[in-house]
Amino acid sequence: MSARKEILKMQNMGAYFSVRCASLFLACGSDFFCVLKCLLWHLKIVIFLPTVIMKIHEIYFSPTGGTKKVADILTSAIGHDCQQTDLTLPEWNGSDTAFAPDDCAIIAVPSFGGRVPTLAAQRIASLNGADSRAVVVCVYGNRAYEDTLVELQDLATGAGFKVIAAVAAIAEHSIAHVYATGRPDEQDIEELTDMAQVIKEKLAEGIDVQPQIPGNRPYKNGMGASMPPLPTADCNRCGLCAAQCPVHAIDKCDVAKVDSAACIMCMKCVAVCPQSARRINPNMEAALIEHLRPLCTERKSNELFC
Ligand SMILES: Cc1cc2nc3c(=O)[nH]c(=O)nc-3n(C[C@H](O)[C@H](O)[C@H](O)COP(=O)(O)O)c2cc1C
Ligand code: SF4
Ligand code: SF4
Repeated sequence: MSARKEILKMQNMGAYFSVRCASLFLACGSDFFCVLKCLLWHLKIVIFLPTVIMKIHEIYFSPTGGTKKVADILTSAIGHDCQQTDLTLPEWNGSDTAFAPDDCAIIAVPSFGGRVPTLAAQRIASLNGADSRAVVVCVYGNRAYEDTLVELQDLATGAGFKVIAAVAAIAEHSIAHVYATGRPDEQDIEELTDMAQVIKEKLAEGIDVQPQIPGNRPYKNGMGASMPPLPTADCNRCGLCAAQCPVHAIDKCDVAKVDSAACIMCMKCVAVCPQSARRINPNMEAALIEHLRPLCTERKSNELFC
């Protein structure tokens, strides 16, 4: 019998004793030994989880950092050795990302127009999940995530992962910063930490049932033409934006030249600029803020599908 089966057998025994313990507890009130057995069952999650999961992989696409913040909260609450993979890096090629069947991947992307950003989709599709488990996470700017989570579930499944849970979480809107400002905040951290506990228990129990995730197939159309951010008069031509653009859309010799067909409007160039000298067209920004006002103002909650 494999080590994993042995552990699952022990866990089943643990579950059996916990049922016994619950019935004994009800029968004998607050008897010391019954309480002790119940405590041991709860400790089981802590004792066996490190053995059942070899490694947690935090895999994220996060141009302005909101998605990574959410993924960090979830992985640190699961509390396990974690290997980070940043799919946003321009030179990422996936060669250092290998999975074992007992690993678990937390795969996190932002929602762009209710879909997975194209580059993130290509990079996730190129992984080899090796039948390991995955938690898919979509982070959005308090408008809507529409088909992002189902698309991410399909991408992860197609790449050889078993999706066991999905999370939709909110972070500050990376274009219209007046919405979801400062999120994830204290309340989000509390909600996401509680969700991580539920995921942790599902992992420890070894149940690989796929969750029901909201969204449509076929997915909605992706975003249309982009209007890339451009340098302002404060730009000192340091070149950082060009070096960090995930799709190499900015000309390294002239940072005012941008390939708008390649640009995915991810806002990384805006986020990394040390001079705050890169921005989208102010009229477009104002129009977007107005358009989003009725859709984004009311606070939305994080969701777990398990
Ligand atoms: C091009 C683009 C499209 C976006 N589309 C949506 C959307 O459809 N719904 C939404 O609620 N937020 C949307 N957002 C906001 C992001 O999903 C949100 O800010 C996310 O946290 C950004 O992730 P990051 O901070 O890791 O870059 C969009 C942001 C960008 C840049
Ligand atoms: S990072 Fe900012 S300052 Fe540097 S080249 Fe780009 S726009 Fe200019
Ligand atoms: S040029 Fe476009 S794709 Fe490149 S970092 Fe800026 S917004 Fe993102």
